[in-house]
Amino acid sequence: MQIAMDGPAGAGKSTIAKCVAKKLKITYLDTGAMYRAITKGVIDRGICFDDQDAIAEYAHQAVIAFKGDQIFLDGQDVTRAIRTPEVSAHTSDVASVPEVRKVLVQAQQQIAEGTDVIMDGRDIGSRVLPNADYKFYLDAAVSERAKRRYDELKAKKALDGKTLADIEADIEKRDYLDSHREVDPLVCCEDAHRIDTTAMTIDQVCDCLIEIIKKPKDEEAL
Ligand code: CDP
Repeated sequence: MQIAMDGPAGAGKSTIAKCVAKKLKITYLDTGAMYRAITKGVIDRGICFDDQDAIAEYAHQAVIAFKGDQIFLDGQDVTRAIRTPEVSAHTSDVASVPEVRKVLVQAQQQIAEGTDVIMDGRDIGSRVLPNADYKFYLDAAVSERAKRRYDELKAKKALDGKTLADIEADIEKRDYLDSHREVDPLVCCEDAHRIDTTAMTIDQVCDCLIEIIKKPKDEEAL
């Protein structure tokens, strides 16, 4: 079974995808973490965000590996380091480089081959798994998404001096870039179930998805 989950920043995709993966005992792949990891490598190497050729060259040589909940970049554990506001602020730039997308989409499709998987990102239903058995698009009001991200960073002591208003502005900017880039922008596929999670708890969203997945396909059309 293949499940695609897309949506803007802070809509709850990764939390929900992890929850669904656990309930269905399938693999979870956080594709955003891969774009974040490449961005961390670009920052560490002092590569300029305008230098698409250097970014592309680095993406081809970077080695990304997952071990449980951890992500490694070129052998180094970057699980925490890819969640900083600095990395968040630059990931959309790096993710708009066509060659970066080519490398990562290929890797994601390889991981999905022959595996039951739920993947979350921006282009999963449209590009990575166009034939997914189920597609979901999670959304929520931007104020709610900013609050969730603020609370998450605060709990991790990773706010880096950012206020709630800063986080909301960052999210709005990122959503705009992700939805307007030329290659594989964030879209809600026609065949995706769109769910507004603004007033829903994590358990409610997870139950809603499981219900859709467990429902016989012929009932879905009714
Ligand atoms: O967790 P959050 O929603 O904040 O973002 P993420 O899923 O970690 O993704 C970070 C960034 O990576 C996004 O803002 C996109 O620019 C990029 N991304 C992408 O372009 N395509 C994907 N499939 C996943 C992420």
